[in-house]
Parts: sequence; structure tokens; C-alpha cells
Amino acid sequence: MSKLQSILTSLEITIQSNGQVPIFSPIDGKKITAINFHHTYEVDEKLTQLKKSFHEFRTVSAIKRAELLRLFAIELRQHKESLSQLVTIECGKVIGEARGEVQEMIDICDYAIGLARMIGGPNLPSERSEHLLQENWHPLGIVAIISAFNFPVAVWCWNSALATICGDTMIWKPSEKTPITAIAIHALFERVFKVWAREHHFQSDCVSQLVLGSADIGEYLVKHPFVHLVSATGSCAMGRKVKQAIACELGKQTLLELGGNNAIIVTEYADLKIALPSIVFGAVGTSGQRCTTTRRLFVHEKMLDKVFSSIKTAYASIVENNKIGNPLSETSLMGPLIDENACQIMQNALTHAREQGGEIYFGKRIAREGFYVEPALVKMQAQSPVVLDETFAPILYVMPYHDLSQAIDQVNLSSQGLSASIMSDSLKESMQFLRDVDTGIANVNVGTSGAEIGGAFGGNKDTGGGRESGSDSWKQYMRRSTNTLFFGKDAPELSQGVKFQL
Ligand code: UN1
Repeated sequence: MSKLQSILTSLEITIQSNGQVPIFSPIDGKKITAINFHHTYEVDEKLTQLKKSFHEFRTVSAIKRAELLRLFAIELRQHKESLSQLVTIECGKVIGEARGEVQEMIDICDYAIGLARMIGGPNLPSERSEHLLQENWHPLGIVAIISAFNFPVAVWCWNSALATICGDTMIWKPSEKTPITAIAIHALFERVFKVWAREHHFQSDCVSQLVLGSADIGEYLVKHPFVHLVSATGSCAMGRKVKQAIACELGKQTLLELGGNNAIIVTEYADLKIALPSIVFGAVGTSGQRCTTTRRLFVHEKMLDKVFSSIKTAYASIVENNKIGNPLSETSLMGPLIDENACQIMQNALTHAREQGGEIYFGKRIAREGFYVEPALVKMQAQSPVVLDETFAPILYVMPYHDLSQAIDQVNLSSQGLSASIMSDSLKESMQFLRDVDTGIANVNVGTSGAEIGGAFGGNKDTGGGRESGSDSWKQYMRRSTNTLFFGKDAPELSQGVKFQL
């Protein structure tokens, strides 16, 4: 029995494996199964069901809706290891990071369970006597969740956990590169939904649906009139297509979490024992395929040689000590890229970097089955076009700077604005950075990747502007209603002192 099959058996999940669409594992590039994608008429059917069930789900209390997540989190805890292995097999991230990803699902479920008792709006002072001004939040409708291959389950869960407590129904289109993980996770969700529905006398058949397909199905879903909110994670190019597709649909909302060309500034006051591990994890972790991966490093000119040679030593130890390899092995620090195309894109970027004056260390394709590469370290004098173009691969461009204001300007020069960090023990430098850097996530002495679920996650500019996960991100899954209530006996006053005497 294949590893995939034994995992699915342990989860008591059967999938059709003789479909038309072959699915490959980046671990060795081999086919692991073959599934079928859905047709547009099936999308219609699923959305029709969700539209119906929304009318029931929206009236269930948020606290009862959260109970569904409590049951789901129990399943996730119970099957954490199998699910982590599945993530690794399908998207190639190392097992330790895959466990982190499943943990992120558990965390957001726990978070949303508590949040269910806290969502709501304020009572506000009214300018009129015996009036009450208040804000109420109501479920929005159907949320379409489009997720990317690099976080095949956690980012869906950020969305679905919040959508669940907010009373929305949801439809998930995972990346066509990672459908099996999605099938498995969704099957677990459906299983607990049945238990929950029985306990709570919920009549409708579902609150969540899964739809498998490529960009055409994604586009069909995004444009569908039953969808109220499109929450999409992926490249800026994908985000542009989503926005274009629904540009004239004024009532449809989007929550976009797109690419990032994330940067770290290492100042002359940096503590290198703190900075170095953050830089290397940020650049090499998830094989450079996180939207928060560190891609640009600005080092104070006084520190450049020392920092560069320390990073080079760390890279050499990864490359030479067989730390790049099968992601299921506990000793691998870096697994493969997702596919052949990703390897090509990386090599093309390195060719451009060389042409643009880059001094390249490591970064070669590794001769073995699967899509393995060495992480690349590139010394650049300044930000050339290739540096400003996000390449979804482990390439770290290192550049010197002289003045902190200019370095922050250089960070902000990227069209994207997801994540940036400063490594400095100076309060003044750190505060200047936090004030001036134009990214949704900005850290001090903490790297660009690995955000916790409690904060709002997302970025500015071409990153799309959406915020997922913690803080007040839940608001995007609800509609706000401002209510004025009058409880007096005589005719009520008009606002702004307007008189209207009949
Ligand atoms: C992503 O790459 O789309 O902050 C999400 C991080 C993770 C999430 C990344 N918690 O790196």
C-alpha cells in the first residue's frame, strides 16, 4: 500500500483514484493518484445547497456554530500526524513545518471558538435624547475560499473558522496542485458537521462545500452571483484576475492575500545571534515558498561582510550536510519546490540576477528525482528589476545600505507590502522603521515569516489589502448594520437639530 493510501485509510477516507487528472508529489515527481475536477454545473448545485443552508445557519447562535469548530479541532488533534504527512507528501514542505501548519488550523479553531462570544459592535452615544445608537453585525452569505498550494490547509482554516462563527456558508477551491489534502480535510469537516447537525437539530445538508478545478473553475466561482465574499490567496496575477472578474459587481467583496517581496534590514545595532537564524529560516524555510519568505536583505555597510559570510556559512552547512532532501525525513531543513516550472522560474531569475550584476552563491538544481534546489544567496549592489520582482523560490538578495531612511525607502520600493523586519537593538531605529515601513506585518528582531494567528494577517499595496486570521479580521465575513432605536414617549427629535413640524 502506498504511503498516501495508508494515510487515507487511517483517516477512514476513500478517494476516487482513477480520474482524469493526475496528481504528483514533488518529493519524487511521481504520480500519487488521479482525480476528477468538477464541472460548472456541479458548482451551481453546490452553491444552490449553500444558499439554502445559509438561511438556516445564519439563525443559529454564534456560540452553537463554534461548537462545530470544537468538534473539528478534536479531529485535527487526533489526526495531526497523518494530516501533516499528507501536507508534506502533496506540497513538499518539511514535516516539522507541516505539523506547524496543522497546528495553525487547531489554533485558529480554538481562537474562533473564544471569539464567537466576543464578536459584536459598540453602543454609541446618540446626539438625541432617548435614542440608542448601536452597531450590529450579521452573517454575510456565501464565502468562496480560494487557497494556494504552499499553505494547502491552514489558510483555508483561517477563513473557514471565522466564516463558521460568523454564520456564513462556504465553498473551498484549493490549488489544483494540492487537492488531496483538501479532500481529506474537508471529509473530516463533513464528518463532524454531521455529528454537530444531529446534536443541534440542524436540517440542511451542509455548511461547507469543496470544489476541485483549475483557474477556469476558480473564475466561474468568483463570478457566481450567489457568492458574497471572495477570499483568495495566491499570486498578484491571480488577485488581479479576481478583481477584474468582479470589478463591476459592487456588492461582492474581496479579501485578497497575495504575494510579498519581504525584506529585513540589519542595522549596525543588530544582535547577530538573533538576526541570523531569523534570516536563514525566513529565506530557506518552506523552500522560499511562503508569501512571507524573506527575499531582500538590506545590511548596514559596516556589517555587510560579517553578515554575508555568516549567512554563506549557514547556507553551506545546509547544502553540504544533506539538509535538503526528502521532506518526510526529520533531518531535512528544506524540501523540494512544488514542480518543474518552479525550478525553471528560479533558474531564470538567477540568470537575470547575474546579468544585472549579482554575485551568486549556491542556487543550483540538485540532480535527483523530484524538484530539489539549493537555496540561492545573491550579493547585489542595489535593487535591480529582478530584485523587485517576487520570485516564489529560495533566493535571498543581499544589499548594502548607508542610511536607515534610505533603506526603509528601498524596502517600500516594492509594489507589494506584506512583511518586513528590522534587526536592531536601537529603540530609535526600531520606532522609525515601524512608523515608516509600508507593510501589513512589521517586526522588530523577529523575521518576516511565521506570523501567529492572533494578529491580522495580510499586506498593503499589491499584496491586496485583505486581513485574515486574528484581530478584527472577522468583520470581513459579516455585514454591519447601524441601528438607531427610540424609546421615548413624545415625538422624537430629528438629527442635526432639523425641525419638521406638521
Ligand atoms: C502564506 O504563505 O500564504 O506567517 C501564509 C507565516 C504563516 C502563514 C503564511 N503563518 O509565514
